[in-house]
Amino acid sequence: MTVYRSPYPVPGVIWASLPAPAFLIDGAGRFAAINPAAETFLNVSSKSLSGVPAFDRLHIDAPMDEALARARANQSPLFINDVDVTTGERPPVQCNIQIAPMHDNPEIVLLLISPREIADRLGRSMHVTSAAKSAIGMAEMLAHEIKNPLAGITGAAQLLSMGLGAEDRELTDLIVEETRRIVKLLEQVEQFGNLRPPDRRPVNIHDALDRARKSALVGFAANMTIVEDYDPSLPATYADPDQLMQVFLNLIKNASEAAGRSGGGTIRLHSFYDLSLRIRHRDGPGKALPLQVEVIDDGPGIPAAIANDIFEPFVSGRENGTGLGLALVSKIIADHGGWIAVDSIPGRTVFRVSLPVASKEQVHAAKQESR
Ligand SMILES: Nc1ncnc2c1ncn2[C@@H]1O[C@H](COP(=O)(O)OP(=O)(O)OP(=O)(O)O)[C@@H](O)[C@H]1O
Ligand SMILES: [Mg+2]
Repeated sequence: MTVYRSPYPVPGVIWASLPAPAFLIDGAGRFAAINPAAETFLNVSSKSLSGVPAFDRLHIDAPMDEALARARANQSPLFINDVDVTTGERPPVQCNIQIAPMHDNPEIVLLLISPREIADRLGRSMHVTSAAKSAIGMAEMLAHEIKNPLAGITGAAQLLSMGLGAEDRELTDLIVEETRRIVKLLEQVEQFGNLRPPDRRPVNIHDALDRARKSALVGFAANMTIVEDYDPSLPATYADPDQLMQVFLNLIKNASEAAGRSGGGTIRLHSFYDLSLRIRHRDGPGKALPLQVEVIDDGPGIPAAIANDIFEPFVSGRENGTGLGLALVSKIIADHGGWIAVDSIPGRTVFRVSLPVASKEQVHAAKQESR
């Protein structure tokens, strides 16, 4: 029998090339080895981790000790899907987890983490890409150029209608109405490009939520039930009050449009505190984003075909949608150093906005100013 000898030390190469974070965990629950993808995932070197209790660094929202014990006892692999994994450095990532006992050492367990697709689209959502920026620039220019002739068309149609009978006037009315619709759409495009930098001050999140809720209930959300589930003790965030209200309004509008299609639905506005959420910016240390607001609806969920791109401008799953609502939300949240995440299955869609707390100095400065 000839044994094929690989020119490479295969196991080591495979370990290093695995694109997903992989960990070996010993019988006492400590890291025995972590691969380069796992180093990136945890943002530390493997050396500094060996011997460290695994679940001190890797917060997995599942009974992991029990799962590892089961994999060891049964000597068979185990899968856990859709759990939140937090590494202390950034917001939780939804992952699928695979656990397998090693064949040559039943005490050691291999743990593989695959961040779910939805998680990576959140990462991408945070910045409006440069392609999107030039698309917005062109759309703005077109919007401006198209508005002028449209005014002429509306005017001409109105003049024409004066000499017409009722039946033909229906047609000129149609021209006027449809042109108005286009003008409105173009104005939205222009507004998107013109968003001013945020004028930030300490803001009570619930005030912004309340303004959005009231405005929604007298308009597009009139047939919806909006449930408030607030933690009234939340401290102020540091934001532009109008832009913050715009964010919540857009999220409530989307929820109403999705959930209200069959004549009504329920939107839950949920605020709470979660100190474990941190975001790491390219420049500077991690920043805590402990204020959480979730807009939850019981609609059909985000259409799979566009799920990866909903935060991009001009992506819409609705017949008359411009696809600018979420692009605007994402831009505002990014300008505020915050974070937005979505999780959607039929019957339950959750948009979660995470924001920083206003510092003592910011609150103090605002008080001085208002004197
Ligand atoms: N809560 C939700 N449930 C289901 N689908 C959603 C939800 N929120 C957003 N979507 C989907 O994402 C798409 C993009 O949303 P976005 O707000 O960016 O644009 P739009 O609502 O289509 O248009 P606009 O907000 O500019 O009027 C929507 O068209 C819809 O298909
Ligand atoms: Mg919208």
